[in-house]
Amino acid sequence: MATEEKSSDLEVQLEQMLGIEKFDPPPGFRENALWSDPKIYEQAAADPEAWWLRQATELLDWETEPTQGLNDSNPPFYKWFEDGRLNASANCLDRHVEAGRGDRVAYHWRGEEGEELDVTYADLHRDVQRFANALKDLGVEKGDVVGIYLPMIPEVAVSMLACARIGAIHNVVFGGFSAESVAERMDFSEAKALITVDGARRKGKTAPIKTTVDEHMGSHHALKTIVVIRKTGIECPMSEGRDVFYDEVLAAAPPECPAEPMEAEHPLFILYTSGSTAKPKGILHTTGGYMAGVTATHRYVFDLKPETDVYWCAADVGWVTGHSYIVYGPLSNGATSVMWEGAPDHPHQGIWWELIERYKATILYAAPTAIRTFIKWGADIPEKFDLSSLRLLGSVGEPINPKAWLWYHKVIGGERCPIVDTWWQTETGAIMITPLPGITETKPGSATTPFPGVAASVVGESDGEPISEGQGLLVLEKPWPSMLRGLYKEDERFIETYFSRFGKERYLVGDAARVDSDGYLWVIGRIDDVVNVSGHRLSTAEVESAIVAHEKVAEAAVIGQADEDTGQAICAFVTLRGGTEPSDELIEGIRGTVAERIGKFARPKRIIWADELPKTRSGKIMRRLLRDIAEGRALGDVTTLRDPEVMKELEAKIAEEGDED
Ligand code: WTA
Repeated sequence: MATEEKSSDLEVQLEQMLGIEKFDPPPGFRENALWSDPKIYEQAAADPEAWWLRQATELLDWETEPTQGLNDSNPPFYKWFEDGRLNASANCLDRHVEAGRGDRVAYHWRGEEGEELDVTYADLHRDVQRFANALKDLGVEKGDVVGIYLPMIPEVAVSMLACARIGAIHNVVFGGFSAESVAERMDFSEAKALITVDGARRKGKTAPIKTTVDEHMGSHHALKTIVVIRKTGIECPMSEGRDVFYDEVLAAAPPECPAEPMEAEHPLFILYTSGSTAKPKGILHTTGGYMAGVTATHRYVFDLKPETDVYWCAADVGWVTGHSYIVYGPLSNGATSVMWEGAPDHPHQGIWWELIERYKATILYAAPTAIRTFIKWGADIPEKFDLSSLRLLGSVGEPINPKAWLWYHKVIGGERCPIVDTWWQTETGAIMITPLPGITETKPGSATTPFPGVAASVVGESDGEPISEGQGLLVLEKPWPSMLRGLYKEDERFIETYFSRFGKERYLVGDAARVDSDGYLWVIGRIDDVVNVSGHRLSTAEVESAIVAHEKVAEAAVIGQADEDTGQAICAFVTLRGGTEPSDELIEGIRGTVAERIGKFARPKRIIWADELPKTRSGKIMRRLLRDIAEGRALGDVTTLRDPEVMKELEAKIAEEGDED
């Protein structure tokens, strides 16, 4: 059959499936699922604290078992499992090696050029111990912050676990961020050391990472050490007395480094994420609660059978999804994972499916933005590969539209795999709202209901009253073990952001959501100035401040605009300095400034020149109006504007833009 005919058949089938309201767990799945009895929800709800304590002690190896669950004596500074002691790296490695599972593959790593490397638990255990010793030799101590800026290579897991082993707090920066962002994050967290790489490969090209890092770290006084992993052989300047090569320090380090038991509330990591202002927030996670949360959710949401499953979370370690579901969750559970260094379209658009066939992956966890891209490339690409090993699919990072859900279900899952649409955040540490694959009937587009032991509601915007059916703000009603413990050195901002609107006992998520008559939750999107581009969180203020750094720009207002491919896209309204004429060159210049200051993924997709921005009489930019105008909607109330004429001019500009297209 011709490809075109086939794809229109698929269209018709998907259209028909849109009429199906609920999908049962597939036949046979429930029987073999780790959790198949809905009573689990009642059991957890009856006493969440005791239930979590049981999960924590059952699923983790403790040096000293905790006897308490939650300490809520000083909200919102909650603590969990406070009298327990454990080490995260020992839970991820030692316990598996000691139980004779050292030969199990932790990562089937595949490099961009097709290289294959099977990294076992014993391999990780060996390298982590040596690297932990090396870090200690370099002066890194318990409680110190260590930056990590690496591509998707096994050493990223080694680096994180080596920090955890000695109680150093890692601060991973996503490889797509610019060196300037790295420098800023190192400053904010007062990092003592940074682990990076000579160069990073992307789609056949090599970027000189260390050289670029040096350009921004020259004046960085607090950073005492930079450890450089040699991966690409690209030229790599080294600074005497500060920079060392990873392979050399590893070879020189003693082989044994017993894991140091940490208090449950010892900080495990900081991860910077975007908030409402230009300054990113340092989300702080601690050891016991986080490990309990990620281990339990990874096991039960993905129905993980570590002996037989091959699991693939196709995220980057630099985001929270990578922390929780590439490193800590899977390793704690003794899983075998796939780790792919590269992009989804290099060396070809079927590489994901080739990897699934090659490693017989059974579980795939991906972002809707990737799924939409695959839809665009066409179903005939995955259809060329044997995907019959798959038994479960997951989605994360943004709402998945029902059509994409159905395509994922049909084309990738062959209609036999349950889909878990998992809602959570950097702040929550672990999955919060999700189906349980052996229990929950799913509805395409809904993350369904909270994980056992988690309580979520949708509440009225003004009164905070729970809504039984309808739309409002999403809140989490009770503390949970893997919750953030604060913003790094910013207690006031922590309270203000999450615990001021509805008090200190309710966590304000920052998302709007709808609850339907079955009590299913449908997350709609952010209510603050956070934009979600391809599942990457960005703050409009952060992008604005990067744009105005361009010498020709006087003022900028950034909004998130609905986008078919990336969910949301950055749209910037820019006012130029007097006498400057708009030009294509200027557009590229502005995009370049944003790439330099934040990273390429933050570049505005669309720039609209504005002689003036719509402001209230008190000078506040009215983004609501900008969103309306960018998305071609009728304008809302303009009477509060200082100068209503501004909107007419902007409308004219947009009309011109349309003509040019
Ligand atoms: C959004 C990513 C709808 C949401 C793990 C949240 C989602 C933000 C979903 C957190 C989902 C994440 N359905 N929206 N399944 N998962 N989001 O911190 O707006 O990078 O607040 O964590 O992504 O993004 P973050």
